[in-house]
Amino acid sequence: MKILMVCLGNICRSPLAEGILQDKVKKRGLQWIVDSAGTERYHIGEPPHPLSQKVASQHGIDISHQRARRFKAADIDQFDIVFALAKDVLEEIKHLSASRFNAHKVKLLMEELYPGEERDVPDPWYGPEPGYQDAYEIIERACEAVIQNYTIKV
Ligand code: 4NP
Repeated sequence: MKILMVCLGNICRSPLAEGILQDKVKKRGLQWIVDSAGTERYHIGEPPHPLSQKVASQHGIDISHQRARRFKAADIDQFDIVFALAKDVLEEIKHLSASRFNAHKVKLLMEELYPGEERDVPDPWYGPEPGYQDAYEIIERACEAVIQNYTIKV
């Protein structure tokens, strides 16, 4: 299973999603590949936001090595699932992937927890520190749902 997490800047939400899902995958001994990207170019090459790094670290997850990259159309072919962390991100993925867009592969992450509700992971970028903790909590629950929903049960 190859999973790509996508937000706007690839510095606040999707680095958390990458780190949290990778941590769960490792702890379960799954052979999944998890990566993240952003639809915008403002922060390409930058590490995750210091407050995303801080909240991840408080939960024992190190995301400091990550570097922001931009989503590209080829990602649609290279990943089995592309999770958009919000609806505006999903629209931008459609735009950037053009004819390669595949509606079976691109999903809203929060649908894993709340199917049919089309919820977003709130963007902590514009607000104070508690927003990053809230984002962590909701992303952690969504990633747990991803593991449950995509692991074959025996
Ligand atoms: P992210 O948050 O999409 O969760 O990484 C943002 C980061 C930067 C900007 C917007 C959202 N920005 O406008 O620079």
